Amino acid sequence: MTRGTEAGGDGGNWERRVQLAAHPLAYPLVRALALVGPVVRVPRVGVVVSDATLARAVLTDTAAFTKTGPGSPADLWTPVVGPSVLLNMEGAEHAELRRRLADLFTPRAVADLVARSSASLTIGRPLDVVALTRQLAGAVIAELVGLDPDLAAAPAFAAATAVTGQVRLARPRLTPSQVARARAALAELTEPADVAYRAGDPVTVPGRMRSLGLSEDESRGAVAAFVLTGTETLVSFVPRLVALLFDTGWLDRLAVEPSRADDVIGEALRVTVPSPVMLRSVSAPARIGTLAVRPGERVVISTVSAARALGGFDPDRPHPPHLRRLWFGAGPHFCLGMPLAMAEIHTVLDAVLAAHRDRPWRIVRRRAARGVLVPAYRELVLDAA
Ligand code: HEM
Repeated sequence: MTRGTEAGGDGGNWERRVQLAAHPLAYPLVRALALVGPVVRVPRVGVVVSDATLARAVLTDTAAFTKTGPGSPADLWTPVVGPSVLLNMEGAEHAELRRRLADLFTPRAVADLVARSSASLTIGRPLDVVALTRQLAGAVIAELVGLDPDLAAAPAFAAATAVTGQVRLARPRLTPSQVARARAALAELTEPADVAYRAGDPVTVPGRMRSLGLSEDESRGAVAAFVLTGTETLVSFVPRLVALLFDTGWLDRLAVEPSRADDVIGEALRVTVPSPVMLRSVSAPARIGTLAVRPGERVVISTVSAARALGGFDPDRPHPPHLRRLWFGAGPHFCLGMPLAMAEIHTVLDAVLAAHRDRPWRIVRRRAARGVLVPAYRELVLDAA
């Protein structure tokens, strides 16, 4: 059992353990490259960018950098999910699909969705924050694809990890058997979504997508995108947020100053970076800082290095403009689900804080997840102090 509370520290020890358990070799390599320089060409990996300003320049320069070329996210995902999944699209088609999906992520739509999905959450003691977040994130995805959240929450998360668990930084493509496994896992969610689309009931999200003018393929692609992007990031982030609050003494402070929640969440996102790298392919000759890059090269943006350059967890220090929300991306692919992610994060944090005010928590057990794509706790168990 791990008491695990070094209140007053910056939470860095456990954060490092979580990162290393996921990527024992790639994490130290990527972090060390930031010391070598802001842009470094690494054989078999690509051009690694560790600086926030340069990262933003790459993400917003759509003439020279794309998500659809060699070594890009499209190379990874298209064989699994098909060609129209936002995260493997570019240009006018991409912008048009995003425009049509925007309605699903208005503050009102997101608040309704999270309220419906969290209705059956219970805050018992002991409480595993990983299991709780997995249940909420899975229920949200189930609602999004038109399934009963009580039945589909677990399959939603399992499908996402079955796909992403096979990806590694130095392995830009999946093998045919990995593609087959990933497709089968995802089909458990996309098939019911197709049924909901055909039924056209606007209470379900696929039904709404149909009334928004999306084709069946676009609707299935959007569902796949939500499953891939919207579960593991949250199941990674929320327990790491709660652990950081314990380790730094901020849980007690937040319990009496709840108005600081946004600062604390923003700073925890900067320190944890649930989506630690972003990939692009060079589509036209360009420069990243002083380094000339050629079409076909792969660019690995180390968001984690760019964000961590500011230092340890400190919600009292404002973020400089070049870092602003970089953990949600920048430019045309900026995270579409950010409002939904924030609503889910607030829901779990509010519930943990309310129970803490009632009767303080302590961490009784925690374990980092091994061999996963998105660094995370395997469990983070709280109980009454
Ligand atoms: C803390 C949680 C989350 C983080 C840190 C996060 C981060 C990101 C990042 C960095 C990107 C851009 C990747 C790139 O440009 O290569 C992205 C894109 C995206 N995210 Fe999130 N995300 C989170 C939660 C969610 C949720 C809950 C959803 C919705 C279900 C979601 C849906 C999307 C979609 C659809 C895209 C693709 C947008 C596009 O390509 O146009 N995300 N996310």
